[in-house]
Amino acid sequence: MQTYLHGRDLIGDLDFSKEEVETVMDVAFDLKRKRALNEPHPYLRDKVLAMLFFFSSTRTRGSFEAGIAQLGGHGAFIDSNTTQISHGDTPKEIGEIFGRYFDGIAIRHCDWQLGNQYLNAVAKASRVPVLNMQCDIYHPFQCLADLMTIWEKKGRDLRRKKIVVSWAYAASYLKPISVPQSLILQMPRFGLDVTLAYPLGFELMPDIVGQAQEQAKKYGTGFEITTSMEEGFKDADIVYAKSWGPLLTTADKTEGKKLQDSFKGWITDERKMSLAKPDAIYMHPLPADRNIEVTDGVIDGPQSVVYDEAENRLHAQKAVMALTMG
Ligand code: CP
Repeated sequence: MQTYLHGRDLIGDLDFSKEEVETVMDVAFDLKRKRALNEPHPYLRDKVLAMLFFFSSTRTRGSFEAGIAQLGGHGAFIDSNTTQISHGDTPKEIGEIFGRYFDGIAIRHCDWQLGNQYLNAVAKASRVPVLNMQCDIYHPFQCLADLMTIWEKKGRDLRRKKIVVSWAYAASYLKPISVPQSLILQMPRFGLDVTLAYPLGFELMPDIVGQAQEQAKKYGTGFEITTSMEEGFKDADIVYAKSWGPLLTTADKTEGKKLQDSFKGWITDERKMSLAKPDAIYMHPLPADRNIEVTDGVIDGPQSVVYDEAENRLHAQKAVMALTMG
């Protein structure tokens, strides 16, 4: 068990080793148990987390804010639009200055080709941990909650179990590619065979796919790519189907929407779920475009674990905050 995570940033999924992620999971399950028993656990008494948002959020904000309070600290919610960032505060200044006020700096910045660079620039200047609440490349806390949920539903021995990380159609907006990228990076380390399914034009970053393939090779797990949603779902133990934008093909929103609209058949419905194993679970980080991305029947049905998945954001984030900010 790796126990010394004090002062560490979590920006990319592979920033923590496999053993360190296992430590996070152990602490997360302990914190979940303590909360269930109403046992106080003020590991971060008087510590303050800056929560800087450049993009909207329901779960991430709610779970970080509740989490730091349950640990005895305080979360300062900061909407970037209410700061002087647009008037000139640089990432270096944010890192230097917030690093002197706060005990951790959590940031959500999903703008394509800007977000991850911003987080790294803040981290370089900060004396306290920088935590990635989602950028254009990674969504590591979502992925930790996903791993926790998969362990709860499928056990810890995941060898020869299949997760399909599939694209799905959405009409609302071009969603970031960070969730599928985090999943394909993290899951091979824990024994899952990964199948990535998307229509042509919705490729992920080649460097990330290359790293995911290296992880799969290192841990002796499978890694496949298909352009058929049905093929991806076939015999899956875990169906993780969500939309993302065609950002590697076009950064133009109108062109991207037009391309996206040509794949309206990529919905997770009962027929496609029937191709997976009978005891397969359905996962989605939310928000979902209901009856466009996934039918009500699936997301509200017996195979769906989306509420447990959302709950586990709280426990996984509390674990990382306690380990890095304590
Ligand atoms: N899954 C997730 O990150 O949700 P929010 O965008 O609501 O934070």
